Parts: sequence; structure tokens; C-alpha cells
Amino acid sequence: MKVPLLDLQAQHRSIKAEIDKVIAEVFDSQYFILGPKVVELEKAIAVYCGCAHACGVSSGTDALLIALMAEGIGAGDEVITSPYTFFATAGSIVRTGAKPVFVDIDPVTFNMNPALVAAKVTSRTKAIMPVHLYGQSVDMDPIMELAKKHRLAVIEDACQAIGTEYKSRRVGSIGHYGCFSFFPSKNLGGAGDGGMVTTNDTHRAAKLNSLRNHGMEPKYHHKMIGGNFRLDALQAAVLNVKLKHLELWTAARRSNAARYTRLFEQAGLPKSEMISLPAVIHERHIFNQYVIRTKSRDELIAHLRKHEIGCEVYYPVPLHLQECFAYLGHKSGDFPESERAALETLALPVYPELSDEQAQYTVKAVADFHV
Ligand SMILES: Cc1ncc(COP(=O)(O)O)c(C=O)c1O
Repeated sequence: MKVPLLDLQAQHRSIKAEIDKVIAEVFDSQYFILGPKVVELEKAIAVYCGCAHACGVSSGTDALLIALMAEGIGAGDEVITSPYTFFATAGSIVRTGAKPVFVDIDPVTFNMNPALVAAKVTSRTKAIMPVHLYGQSVDMDPIMELAKKHRLAVIEDACQAIGTEYKSRRVGSIGHYGCFSFFPSKNLGGAGDGGMVTTNDTHRAAKLNSLRNHGMEPKYHHKMIGGNFRLDALQAAVLNVKLKHLELWTAARRSNAARYTRLFEQAGLPKSEMISLPAVIHERHIFNQYVIRTKSRDELIAHLRKHEIGCEVYYPVPLHLQECFAYLGHKSGDFPESERAALETLALPVYPELSDEQAQYTVKAVADFHV
């Protein structure tokens, strides 16, 4: 048996007729950038996330960058974030000229530990960028409270977390901005790159709309310097179709995660000190990834590869130890939980179409390795 980490072809087979139809519509219209398909997607995502506004952009990375730009963040400013995330989180902060200030993660959720944030606030801090890693929300209440006290913007990196909830609110609607990625492997993935910024603030929404198109308003007149962060109509067309299926796919991911946990328990694994399973602290977790911790990760990866089971490490090097951020002056030991997670985490296949047999085969392979 083979178990890929993700099976996008299986997903595509189930919606091929719908996708073919809307792609043809875009080609017939010859309207390729922004336009009605993008507006339709923006409206639908705003509703889905419980937000007043949504602005389609070219990627999740650009969503983060444009939100920072809309806040006027730049040289001399500091933005507090997690060192245990995809590179784009801190990369976008640095691209504005600002400094990323890291706080360590909670070892259970892998998300920014809110208790550590207050000590990092200085007179230069302009924003907090919490990352809802793997599809589970950051503990947002203490972060919003701190942001209010110090008048900081909160830019949620929700790139892995579309449909994730925190105390019954969708992420992206809690902070001042929510940034989403439509990279093909996300729960809502396009046919290429794409992203979205959500906000409840009308002024911020207007600024985002302008910045994504070179700050051009009206045509060929520029009040501010933006960029080309526009979303393509083809991506929006595909995403409009897929969004209609997202709740079903999310339910399937969540039930696959629950099944793994059940099967691992039956195999006696969580009792072993060698392995721990993902904990759902804040419902709802949308399981963009199902990530276990294991003390012998490299050996387990080799074992799973031998059994043709896909797995991946998100992420092997925490950001404070990346070569390009050496100038920040961090060293090993600065963020011990992030460093430990980088050594121990492993994502297993949890995509919606994963079959019962594939899940059982995966759990057996992991169990055989640990007992
Ligand atoms: C946490 C996080 N932030 C930012 C990004 C960047 O998104 P994109 O790849 O669409 O630029 C991603 C996606 O890879 C991500 O997982």
C-alpha cells in the first residue's frame, strides 16, 4: 500500500467537471486579473471568516507583507512573532525594514506562548503577528488584551488555518488583519499561488485594496507606494468552486485526525514516552497538518519511507537559527521549545480522502516502529 502525504489528484477527480466549467468561463471572458471572480471570492471568504472585508492578493506571503505595509510598519519598528513557523512570517516583517522579535512557543500547541509576549513589548513595537500553526488557533484573548493596552496592530498569520475557530470565532476576524494562503497544499488550495487578507475595518480594507495595485487611485495617480499583489481571476474561479466543498473537506480532516488518535490509543502509543499526539486545545482545529512528536524522528522517517508512507517535517530549523537572520544575534538555546519542536515534529497524512485502510496501515507502521 502507498499513503501519500497529500493526494490532490483524488480531490481534483471529485470536482473536475465544476473546475473545467469555471476555467472555460474565465478564458471566454478573457478577464484574467481581479474582476468579478475575485470579487465573488472576496465576498464569500469574508462571510466564511465572519469578517466585514476581504482583499484577494497574490500569495499568503504577500498577504502578510501588505498587511504590514497597510500599518505603515518599516525601519525602526519591531513586530513580535513566533520563531517556529514557515519562513514567510518573519521574512515579510524583514522585507518592510522592521525587526522580527521572537517569543517561544507553547510545547503542546506549537503556537506562540502568550505569557511570553508582554516582556518583549518595547516603545518600538508596532504589531504582534501570531501564527495559527497546523490549523489550531493561538490563544488570542491575552494577545488582543496586550495589543489593546499598547495600541498594537494584530496581524494573524492564518495561512494554515482557514475555518479555524477560537471560542466560536473564525480566525482572521479576531485581530486587525487575517492573512490566508491558497498554496495548493492548504485546506483551500488554488491552482497556483494566491492569498487573502481579511479585516473588519473599512479604512484598512480601502488601504489594502489600493496597496495591492501600486497604491493607484485613480488610474496612473499614486498617493502611496504599493506593489503588484493582485489575485488572478483563474485562481479565484478555482477557489470559488473549492470553497463550496471546504466544510466537508474540513470535517473529513477532523475525523481523520480523531481516527488516528483512536487507532494510536488502541495501539497503546500515547502511553509510550517516545511519542505524543496532537492535542486539541482550542476548537476548532482544522488539521491542515496532523503533527506528532517523536524522540527518534529521523529513524521513524526512514521507516515510513520504507513503507511508502508520506511524511514531512514542518519545520526543521526554527527561524532564529536561519542563516539569513544571523544578524539578529540569536543562538541555540534562545527559544528551547521551538528548537525541541524542530527536532521532534513529524506530519502524517491527514488529507480528506485518506481511507480507513491507509490510516490503519500508517498507524501500524508507526506503532511497529515504537514497540
Ligand atoms: C504559516 C505560514 N505563513 C505564510 C505562508 C506563506 O504563504 P504562501 O506560500 O501562499 O506565500 C505559509 C504557507 O506556506 C504558511 O504556512
